[in-house]
Amino acid sequence: MANADERLEGKTALVTGSGHGIGRQIALKLADRGAYVVATDLNGETAGEVAEEIGEAVGSGRAHAVEMDVTDLERVQHVIDETVADRGALDILINDAGIWFPKFFLESTPEEWRKEVDVCFFGVVHCTRVALPHMVDQGGGRIVSIASDAGRVGEKRQAVYSGAKAGVIGFSKAIAREYGRYNITVNCVAPGLTMNSPEMAESFGQRAGELRSVYPLYRGESEPPLGQPSDVAGAVAFLASDDAAWVTGQTISVSGGYSMA
Ligand SMILES: NC(=O)c1ccc[n+]([C@@H]2O[C@H](COP(=O)([O-])OP(=O)(O)OC[C@H]3O[C@@H](n4cnc5c(N)ncnc54)[C@H](O)[C@@H]3O)[C@@H](O)[C@H]2O)c1
Repeated sequence: MANADERLEGKTALVTGSGHGIGRQIALKLADRGAYVVATDLNGETAGEVAEEIGEAVGSGRAHAVEMDVTDLERVQHVIDETVADRGALDILINDAGIWFPKFFLESTPEEWRKEVDVCFFGVVHCTRVALPHMVDQGGGRIVSIASDAGRVGEKRQAVYSGAKAGVIGFSKAIAREYGRYNITVNCVAPGLTMNSPEMAESFGQRAGELRSVYPLYRGESEPPLGQPSDVAGAVAFLASDDAAWVTGQTISVSGGYSMA
């Protein structure tokens, strides 16, 4: 059982990209800590499954799902305004939605660059822009964005994505400075390679030896040294909680020590 300062009872949290992978685990973790979760995703069906799973895990009426594309500012405005109208507040915004096209830069296309920047960077800008006025009116709030170690150290085959994630980190620091006086904290969690599907686990499992040379933490010979979505969710829950009341403008890497920026 989490201690009182880790608990999120009475808080409403909206998670973007919560239908799969890291976002899904974040939604489950925040609900487990006591928050009411608005599970949003581009894919309304998977968001619905997560809301159902929360109902089974912590009781019905603890979550609902909404289809929301973070690149669509009007839709984001509608969903967040509706959340505040229904729930009375939006206490916690988790910007998780992201996409990437792993290719060397000269093989990637302008369409792919724009998509990565639209979802990974402007998605965060949109949700933050809409959530902030509500948080200012409420007298506080928590914003946690899922960046990436790629945004801290740069990653091969993720050039534009690395730039977009570095943008998320810089943007979060600026917003943390501008709105700290309203008791709003703005932080990032930067995962390293994180197994968001069995296929990903299998493909990286084949490169376990190579990965062990750059990931200091060790999970045993049978496991590649990769993160699990639940590893990321723990850091997010901390930043969303009262335990992190004096933490803002920071980026926590959850990557087995891959980057120590
Ligand atoms: N998995 C990793 O190795 C890793 C590493 C570093 C950072 N990250 C970051 O973590 C976050 C989650 O990654 P993941 O591995 O869980 O990915 P994932 O592909 O498993 O899940 C991403 C979710 O975002 C949703 N999504 C995509 N575009 C969207 C849009 N326009 N609007 C709303 N939702 C949208 C998808 O439908 C999906 O449910 C992303 O921001 C990603 O960049 C992941």
